[in-house]
Amino acid sequence: MSVILAIESSCDDTSVAICNNGKITANVIANQTIHQNYGGVIPELASRVHQQNIVPAVQQALINAKVTKQDINAVAFTRGPGLLGSLLVGVSFAKSFALALNVPLISVNHMHAHILAHFIDDPKPGFPFLCLTVSGGHTQIVLVKDYFDMEIVGETLDDAAGEAFDKTAKLLALPYPGGPLVDKHAQHGNPLAFKFAEPQIAGLNFSFSGFKTSILYFIRKQEQENPDFIAENLDDICASVQYSIIQILLNKLKKAAKQYGIKEIAIAGGVSANSGLRNGLQQAADELGWNIYIPAFQYCTDNAGMIAIAGYHKFLKNDFVGQDVSPMARMEF
Ligand code: KG4
Ligand code: ZN
Repeated sequence: MSVILAIESSCDDTSVAICNNGKITANVIANQTIHQNYGGVIPELASRVHQQNIVPAVQQALINAKVTKQDINAVAFTRGPGLLGSLLVGVSFAKSFALALNVPLISVNHMHAHILAHFIDDPKPGFPFLCLTVSGGHTQIVLVKDYFDMEIVGETLDDAAGEAFDKTAKLLALPYPGGPLVDKHAQHGNPLAFKFAEPQIAGLNFSFSGFKTSILYFIRKQEQENPDFIAENLDDICASVQYSIIQILLNKLKKAAKQYGIKEIAIAGGVSANSGLRNGLQQAADELGWNIYIPAFQYCTDNAGMIAIAGYHKFLKNDFVGQDVSPMARMEF
């Protein structure tokens, strides 16, 4: 029997989940809207809001899961990567809670957890599988050999795919975080209206820095000719940028699948909520005979459900950490 309470506070969402014998029975996510005023996450504000949110989120998770504090067998937390101040709130709360309840502590790597979100619901991928992990801070192709035996076989050399979405949204004066809004507008636009060059990067790695700049120059140039260019073409710009990002991601994923001879293919992280990426992956699966795995929406963007399932698999191995654990330091993938 195991009831694991998990805390995720790596960026700007305070989330608390409960995993009861391998089933997620609560996944409370308190979003921080304050950052919308600034067009991006302000780390100091994020840590302060985590402090306000964390106790109510824990209380709500216990209510939703119909358990009490006394039922908890272990406390799992995101150790990193993430914003240091935000992580500190989660780590400090987890340590104190585990100490007060006299239960073990479980440290979880946020990027492992995005991948292990695939073990919350059915169908679950079989090992080995390839996972394209695409978030606001990361873009990786990971060869997943077992729950905690993972190898990064390709990654971005500079910016993440999520940043390309968010930066595009900012250029178009859409509010932060813009990725979901680009997705929404893209659904009404023509993906082939404008063309953006695919970065030529060797092997399985990615680069989005030059791509982001090319969008900036493209929009500036168009606006010189027509000041209403954005207003008149918003849906088409979103659809074309989104299409280009998805092509970059899927071309590398296809290359990796061929190189490793693997047809079990998953996507994870915030950008895996993108409807175009989900459709594109389905098309690739139909063409290439892949079995594909896409997490439910609530487990794509940052959430403690994924920390709880990762914590559960560590609990089964008695893989605990001491009270002296620090956030992030000496973390390995
Ligand atoms: O995994 P996540 O919640 O946080 C990090 O670990 O970074 O990912 C957040 C990123 C942001 O860049 C956000 O704009 C992007 O995921 N995102 C999306 C969509 N939903 C979230 N990007 C494109 N389309 C979406 N529907
Ligand atoms: Zn994340």
